[in-house]
Amino acid sequence: MSRGVSASPTTAKVNTDPAGSGPSSRGLAFAKANCSGCHAVTTGRGSPNPEAPPFEVVVNAPGLTAATLKPWLRDSHNFPAMMNFAIDPEQIDDLAAYMTTLQRRDYTPPIQ
Ligand code: HEC
Repeated sequence: MSRGVSASPTTAKVNTDPAGSGPSSRGLAFAKANCSGCHAVTTGRGSPNPEAPPFEVVVNAPGLTAATLKPWLRDSHNFPAMMNFAIDPEQIDDLAAYMTTLQRRDYTPPIQ
């Protein structure tokens, strides 16, 4: 898997990180480059691949925190087969920082 691009100011618009830069911006850029082919990586949209849950849905799972998300991202996993990749540790920190900005206290899942 290619390394993510460094923070890209052109992708910062949808970032909910109030600082607008730093780890969560890098995480968003990385997600756009590496995950958005299948997952909706920003809010309010469906995933290009209907099998892949939008990140908003992933991170609003009950009990999910950066601490539970990181080990999942760190594990080299091949389930599903199309997600067989390894992510660099520093990218994981950025990704987790970004993905947890999508958490909403009043979130209600679209299904269930
Ligand atoms: C080629 C398509 C594809 C790409 C690229 C992809 N994913 Fe996925 N991802 C999937 C699919 C399909 C699932 C659903 C697996 C399932 O539920 O069986 C999934 C599931 C997940 C889940 C678990 C959701 C859950 O609640 O169990 C996470 C987290 C995730 N992906 C993160 C990522 C990240 C981070 C990236 C980018 C580094 C990424 N994915 C790139 C297809 C993809």
